[in-house]
Amino acid sequence: MEPNLVNSSLVEDFKRGMLQGRKSIPPKYFYDDVGSRLFDQICDLPEYYPTRIESGLLKNISTELIDFVKPDCLTELGSGASRKTEHLLDACNRSNHGLLYEPVDVCEEMLNWSSDNLQKKYDWLSVEPILADYTKEVKWKVDDNRRRLFIFLGGTIGNFDANLALQFLKKLKNDMGLDDYLLIGADRVKRPDLLHAAYNDKAGYTAEFNLNVLSVFNRQLKTKFVKDNFFHYAFYNPIESQIEMHLVSSGEQCVEVSTLNEKVYFNQGESILTEISRKFTRKSFEKLLKKAGFEVDKHFESDQLKFSLVLAHPTAR
Ligand code: SAH
Ligand code: AVI
Repeated sequence: MEPNLVNSSLVEDFKRGMLQGRKSIPPKYFYDDVGSRLFDQICDLPEYYPTRIESGLLKNISTELIDFVKPDCLTELGSGASRKTEHLLDACNRSNHGLLYEPVDVCEEMLNWSSDNLQKKYDWLSVEPILADYTKEVKWKVDDNRRRLFIFLGGTIGNFDANLALQFLKKLKNDMGLDDYLLIGADRVKRPDLLHAAYNDKAGYTAEFNLNVLSVFNRQLKTKFVKDNFFHYAFYNPIESQIEMHLVSSGEQCVEVSTLNEKVYFNQGESILTEISRKFTRKSFEKLLKKAGFEVDKHFESDQLKFSLVLAHPTAR
């Protein structure tokens, strides 16, 4: 197995999700070097509206936001390529506001690339990248009384089910200080055909992104998955208000897992649930934040209510 501490839970997650009952795997395993670059390409696709819309919204509110929060430190969870973050850095630049940027991600290659990229573009910025799994204990670089703005963009909160989202937000709240804020993005419930198109792009990048998790298994667990034996299948479930993304086995097959000395059996048409992407209403998102112990300061909505950015702070501190 690769000496990758961040992915040390893959063995456990694989055993729990792939060797018994309905097959599933947490979505964090998409993001090796190749998967992170594929996601970056998805963000530019015409069908994948969330990045464009959130980016426009963030640009519009950036000055108001920075002047209101006046953060000393910007901590971004699941920072990826940190492209949208530049709107906040530009706003800091305009307000002559110095800042420490602390991106947190599981993908080392993307974290290093984005940190170098931002450091080159903003010479006044201090960048302190943290390679970590944000669902676990994170060793923050800044632990003094500096005011932090945590950001969690992309609608990534929707990749957790209701329980995990609550657990994640409660844990985050416990890590926040008295004067800290959270800016969090949520994709909104909308026409199912638009949602369906966003996860079934014509160029096939989403399919490639989904199938890439099999390469991660093959490399890290020495499995023998053959990508051609699986189909990408994503659909919108309006009862749960979520996209469900699967890899469906094209036939009966048995896949060896050398590292675990195990075999995974698939019936024809059996699937691995690789990701959910929950979509929120204004009400359901605010309810989640309240339940986790946050008070909403401002709820920014894009045109046609396609995407939300919510600024919130911990209530009981
Ligand atoms: N924030 C960016 C990227 C979103 S993609 C945007 O809005 O476009 C989700 C990002 O979260 C990826 O960069 C992925 O590597 C990271 N990620 C996923 N699960 C993670 C986890 N458990 N801990 C830390 N980072 C994670
Ligand atoms: C990171 N996350 C918010 C994306 C989403 O839309 O749920 C991941 C993704 N999956 C397929 N396309 C994009």
